Amino acid sequence: MSNEANKKLFIQTLGCQMNDTDSQHIIAELNKHKGYTQTQNMEDADLIVINTCSVREKPVQKLFSEIGQFNVKKKEGAKIGVCGCTASHLGNDIMKRAPYVDFVLGARNISKIKDVVDKKGAIEIDIDNDDSTYEFARAETSIYKTNVNISIGCDKECTYCIVPATRGDEISIPPEMIIEQIQKDVKTGAVEVMLLGQNVNSYGRRFSDGRAKYSFTQLLKDVSKIEGLERIRFTSPHPLHMDDEFIEEFASNDKISKCIHMPLQSGSTKILKAMKRGYSKEWFLNRTKKIRDLVPDVRITTDIIVAFPGETREDFLDTIDVINQVKFDQIFNFKYSPRPNTQALELKDDEIADDIGSARLTQVIDLHKEHQSELMNANIGKTFTVLFESLKPNGEVAGLTDNFMQVFVKGSDELLGRFVEVKITAASRTSLKGEVVE
Ligand code: SAH
Ligand code: SF4
Ligand code: F3S
Repeated sequence: MSNEANKKLFIQTLGCQMNDTDSQHIIAELNKHKGYTQTQNMEDADLIVINTCSVREKPVQKLFSEIGQFNVKKKEGAKIGVCGCTASHLGNDIMKRAPYVDFVLGARNISKIKDVVDKKGAIEIDIDNDDSTYEFARAETSIYKTNVNISIGCDKECTYCIVPATRGDEISIPPEMIIEQIQKDVKTGAVEVMLLGQNVNSYGRRFSDGRAKYSFTQLLKDVSKIEGLERIRFTSPHPLHMDDEFIEEFASNDKISKCIHMPLQSGSTKILKAMKRGYSKEWFLNRTKKIRDLVPDVRITTDIIVAFPGETREDFLDTIDVINQVKFDQIFNFKYSPRPNTQALELKDDEIADDIGSARLTQVIDLHKEHQSELMNANIGKTFTVLFESLKPNGEVAGLTDNFMQVFVKGSDELLGRFVEVKITAASRTSLKGEVVE
């Protein structure tokens, strides 16, 4: 039997970067309050936690097959907890389908992990729970990077999206807590921060203490004043809230990474309206043009959903048109997946046949591959500043440019944690190779 001080936690994380950060918090909280240490071996664990995602149907199916496996293979007496977005929206149904689950903890209730962990049958899925001022134990992060949540929940009502139902209304984390967290991480070696939220650039509209509004642009200015912090990234921003002030700060602030995620979803103004995204095709193109005019070497990434209900061939061609005009550096493609608690379910009669959806997805993927090759090849011969972060088994060192391209060079651990000038000698669609410039 394991003694109190030596309990092992195995945690599996599905979903987005917010779930990653929540998992880091779970690990830190269970370590501080309950003495758990992490193991990578599920069969050795006293507690198995799965931090789930609900955004599409597939990950939900994955959850039940996964915990079934855990239950068969787990150590005698080990507990199983289901956390995250699927916990939020399925709640008690999880226990009904999988009675061996010990507790269920919704995405907005992560601070309660230390209470539910020893309470067989506990279900904490309060969608109004406010963790925005809870001081989590120090989360373990990479030495050079830190991920910091700036808001919880989402106030949008994108009609396809389950996230507002799993993470609740948007509440911003007070700026002084964010700054303090980053300062602590910088003291222990971080040079880069990733600011996280479902909708980062609507930051500051509501705080739980009712204080005055604040803006994301102001937060960026504040964070960039932190001494020793070299790079600021953020995700996800919403194209609707990319006002001129924000774009100008993005362009002129040297600490802000020049890679921006602009989730388009669809290029058709009609479909964007049905999705309740709040912007048009023209607005999106106008914003990308302004960003490119001000920051010529900017990289722009996006999310696309094909086959939203009612998407005609013309609508889809509008999406292709935007992809051709913007030439995204990376596209995360999805086929529309109907989700519970979403308004788009009402459009059931207009759903697109699966084979048409798959063909559209393939068309987006193929076009994007062409653009990626063209864009990445154009880097050969150029010199970039790279922050090196990890050693590869083949003797290469991997790092990222300011605009978020992966670069490999031959070298040693001397390069780690340093910003180094690298001349690019070769390119694939997803990464670059280069030589350190002495
Ligand atoms: N808050 C983020 C999105 C989080 S979900 C944002 O607005 O950018 C990540 C992506 O999953 C979304 O951008 C969307 O492209 C995709 N997605 C969300 N719901 C979906 C659904 N029902 N079907 C297919 N893709 C979906
Ligand atoms: Fe979902 Fe829209 Fe909120 Fe993003 S902004 S999490 S897509 S509702
Ligand atoms: Fe998934 Fe929840 Fe993130 S649904 S994408 S884990 S916000």
